[in-house]
Formats: sequence, structure tokens, C-alpha cells
Amino acid sequence: MKLALLTSGGDAPGMNMALWALCHEAEKKGWQVVGVEEGLQGLIDAKFRPLQVREVLRWARRGGTELGSSRVSNFPKHIETVVQNLKNEAVDALVILGGNGSSQAAAALSSKVLTAFLPATIDNDVLDSDSSIGFDTALNSAIRLADGIRDSADSIPRLFALETLGGDTGFLAQEVAQAVGADVLLVPEYPMELAELIQLTKIATEKNRYALIVASEGYPNLTDVIDDLAKAMNTRSRMSRIGHAQRGGTPTGFERILARSLATEAVKGLAKNESGRALWQAGKAVWLPFAEAHHKDFKLEPL
Ligand code: F6P
Repeated sequence: MKLALLTSGGDAPGMNMALWALCHEAEKKGWQVVGVEEGLQGLIDAKFRPLQVREVLRWARRGGTELGSSRVSNFPKHIETVVQNLKNEAVDALVILGGNGSSQAAAALSSKVLTAFLPATIDNDVLDSDSSIGFDTALNSAIRLADGIRDSADSIPRLFALETLGGDTGFLAQEVAQAVGADVLLVPEYPMELAELIQLTKIATEKNRYALIVASEGYPNLTDVIDDLAKAMNTRSRMSRIGHAQRGGTPTGFERILARSLATEAVKGLAKNESGRALWQAGKAVWLPFAEAHHKDFKLEPL
């Protein structure tokens, strides 16, 4: 069997670990492995390169993706080219790591090529999976920053807001808010009236002299909302944006175990000649077909 590995969409810490785990499991089965450079665009452009387990082990502890990645909006248009490229390279099975967009590309390919999908995005919004590769590391990066903000806030009390990544979802911001004991959470799924925001902030400042707001980058007009709040409270606000620093960094221990478990499950599935998704459910890796019902509801937890 010849396996091709590909990382797609936003890079996520732990992608490299998953690549190594896939190579490691493939080697045990005597399979050959190639990498596709630059994600789905590289698949369209036939950018294949052989991968050796020894080389990939050096990547495993690093953030980002050593294979490179890309965002391709019109992938279905290129399916015939991709299938031909895989044929030319004598690839028997493909493994795609990425978020929901990449999962759709994998599903589309799975009717033509043996395909596995692994959830890998810091946003943790992948359908049917409790966690995705990259999420835990991104959570921990934000926790470190929030702890730093609190050191300063204890010293000079003001209104503090920490903006996380997360795209147009609040999964990442909600976990950060829970983990740091934030006073207010702003997520795109639940826009808040200014009056409610003022009330929550007042309760916090009366207790602690400052308030810590955690917000997802997708919250509508976030900067204006924080400015309006500061004006209404007659105080100064300080907003910290983690930005893409949240996407990098050394993968945490949990991340590495998650990446390894999902990779092992994917290789098991492919060995049975089945296309599917290796997902994380109730603390373990499971193998589900692409066709099964998809959902991932955002549920607001009390702070
Ligand atoms: O999907 C992962 C993610 O990091 C989101 O959290 C963020 O909104 C987006 O990617 C940023 O994308 P890009 O790196 O293409 O600007």
C-alpha cells in the first residue's frame, strides 16, 4: 500500500505529530508513505515527496506543519486532476488533516480514492469530534496570556479584553474563558446586549476592581463593543489580541496523544479498505464513515 499524507487549511500544533504517527503506523504495516506539499493546492499541482519515519520524527515536536498548507475554495472543480495525480504517483490511499472545509474535500474524494480524514484545527469546530488536533495547545497559549493579563490587572485595575482566534465560532474562546475564570464571554453564537454586558462587567469590577472579558475574534464589531462598554463604565479598556501566535507553539502532551490516537485509528480503518473519519468521542478515537450524520452544536456554559 502507498499512502499520501496532506495537511490542509489553517496549520495546527500537533499536525506534525500526527504525520509522524501515521508514518510510524504505516511502517509497521510495511506501507510506503509520501507527503503532499502545500495542502490541497499541492495535491492539484502534484507536489509529492517521499517521507521517511526518521525525518518526520524530527518534526513531531514542532508546531505548524512541515508539509505546508493552503486554502483552496473551489476544490470540487479539481477532483479529476487530483485523482489522475494520485494515479500517476501510484498512491492507494490519502490522509487529509484539517478542519470542516478540508473534511468536505476529503468526503468528495472518498468516492473515488480510499481516503481518511483527521480533525486538525485550533477552532475545535469539526463536526462529530469532541476535540481536534491543535485545540489544546491553542487553549494553553491563551491561558498563559490571560494569566499575564491578570498579573497586570491586579496591579492597575481596568477593563481587560482578550481576543482569541476561532474563526466565526466560539468553541475556543469558551474553553479559554472557562479555564481562566473570565468574567464575561463574547462569542458569535450569542451576541449580548450592551446593557447585559455592562451589568456583568459592573459585578466583576465591584468584586475584583477589574473585569476580564474573553472574546472570540468572530464576535460582531468587537472593538466598538469594548469601546462602548468602557465609555459606559467611565473607565479605560485594554484589548489584547493573540492573533496567529495562538496557532503556533509546541504541541501539549494531550495534543500529541490525541494526534497519535487519531492517526492509529485512521491507519486501522484504511487497512480494512474503508474510507472514513478518525474522530475523538468520549475520550477515545473512533472511526466513522463520511456519510454519517454530522453535527457540533455550540452550547453556552455558565461562567
Ligand atoms: O481556522 C483556523 C484559523 O486559525 C481561525 O481561527 C482563524 O480565523 C483563521 O484560521 C485565520 O486564517 P488565515 O491564517 O488564513 O488568516
